[in-house]
This record gives sequence, C-alpha cells and structure tokens, in this order.
Amino acid sequence: MDKIPCPGEGRVTAGDIVVCRDPDELSERAAAEVARLIDASIQAGDRFTVALSGGSTPRSLYALLARPEWDRVPWEKIHLFWGDERCVPPDHPDSNYGMAREALISKVPIPAANVHRIEGEKDPELAAAAYEMCLKRFFRLRDGEFPRFDLVLLGLGEDGHAASLFPGSDALRERRRLVVAAYVERLGAWRVTLTLPVLNHAANVWFLAAGRNKADVVKRVLCGDPGAEDLPAALVRPAGGRMVWLVDEAALSGLRGPKYLTVS
Ligand code: 6PG
Repeated sequence: MDKIPCPGEGRVTAGDIVVCRDPDELSERAAAEVARLIDASIQAGDRFTVALSGGSTPRSLYALLARPEWDRVPWEKIHLFWGDERCVPPDHPDSNYGMAREALISKVPIPAANVHRIEGEKDPELAAAAYEMCLKRFFRLRDGEFPRFDLVLLGLGEDGHAASLFPGSDALRERRRLVVAAYVERLGAWRVTLTLPVLNHAANVWFLAAGRNKADVVKRVLCGDPGAEDLPAALVRPAGGRMVWLVDEAALSGLRGPKYLTVS
C-alpha cells in the first residue's frame, strides 16, 4: 500500500492508501481486495458481512463482482447490508439497494435471505428502527453492543459526508443507536444511515474516492487539515479495525506538488 506523507503529522492520518490510475483500476483493485477479505473471513467464520455504499463510485465495483471471472465468490456465505439508504422505494432510481440490485444482486446466485436492505419506502424513523432490529437479530447483539461488519464500504462526499452522515448533522453525535433517520437540509431529503459507532466497530472500512472533484476533501481528511477534524469522513476511525483509502490519481491530486512526496 502507498503511504503519503503530509506536512505536520508527517504521515497520513487515516489508514493505508491504494493509489489507482483511474476509476476502473480502483474497482479492479477493490474487487481483488474484497476477494481476499472474503477468503480470510470465510476461513475464520464461514460468512462475510459487508455494508455496501451508495453513490456512483462503488457501482462499477459491484458490476465487476457480477462478472463471470468472479464466479468463485461463495455468494451463499455472503451477507449484504447497506451503510445508508435514501428514503425512496427500492425501485426508485435513487435507491442504493436498487443500484446494487441492478449492478450485482440480480446477476449473482446470492440467496434472497442474505440481502438485508434498508426499507427506504417506510417512514424514515420506522425504517431506521426496523433496520436496527435486523442488525441486532443478525449479529445477536445484546444492549450496548455494536455489530462488527467484516467490511464497510464508504464513498466520500465533496462536503466530507460518509454514508448519510452529513456535516453538522445530529446523527454524528449518536453514540448509542445503530441506525438513525436523518433529514439532510442540503438535499431536502430524509436518509437512513448507520451511525459512527457502527462504522468504527467494523473490521475493515474502505473509502472509495475517485475524480478531481474529491481532491480537496481527500487532502483535507487525509492530512488532518485544520477544521477538517469535524468532517464526518474524518470521524471514521475504526478503533479495532483497518481503514484503507482506495483513490484514483485525480482524487489524490490535492496531495501533489512540492509539499508532498507521493510514493506511487
Ligand atoms: C449515498 C452514499 C454517499 C456517497 C457519497 C459519494 O447514499 O449517496 O452513501 O455517502 O457515497 O455521496 O458519492 P459518489 O461515489 O457518487 O461520489
């Protein structure tokens, strides 16, 4: 993995970085890493739990995993969850579940019982409560416990949001619940999202970020710039897990130049 020294701390402040040429290579590298994680998790525990991200960046990863060359993936042992969902029906073009169903789920032999979607069509608070119950049952959690996903995939918003945890949101202060409903002023829309304690309890958290439009926020978060420490993405710090940033050159372009030495 590449490490990117930054001024001040001298090293990146968030995990390891996989530098990819472009979004296609990012998806290919992510798919290879997912396969490696699946193998390791299934050897250890006979199942693999992953919280999928919405948005456009991970979509090509999902489509890649649906291709014949990945048919060795033991889908019957894999459980899909979501890090967040828009409050829309599953067949709505904005649905994160709908995107994953079209790109991946409809193309692989994963049992329906292994797909644990957030019911975006429900009242947001009811959907959040129902999803929290789903997690408690699946992970057999006692009160005060958090699920430990084998992998949480996250995209990165230009404003530094992760999942549907947006800057300034009350949801960022939630330390007890696993899932909350959040009204996003900027979007004028409700979302359902995993909370920070759940994200930070994962065994592996990957941020996928591609494109020049992410360069500024990637630099701010990775280098711990002043004021960036409160960005939702900067608050994702899996204490007992591993964080990896999979970024393409364009998203890393904010760390180019004489102040930074980039090992590629
Ligand atoms: C969502 C995602 C959101 C997304 C970022 C980045 O529901 O939209 O959870 O957090 O990952 O907005 O989206 P892109 O990958 O499309 O840039």
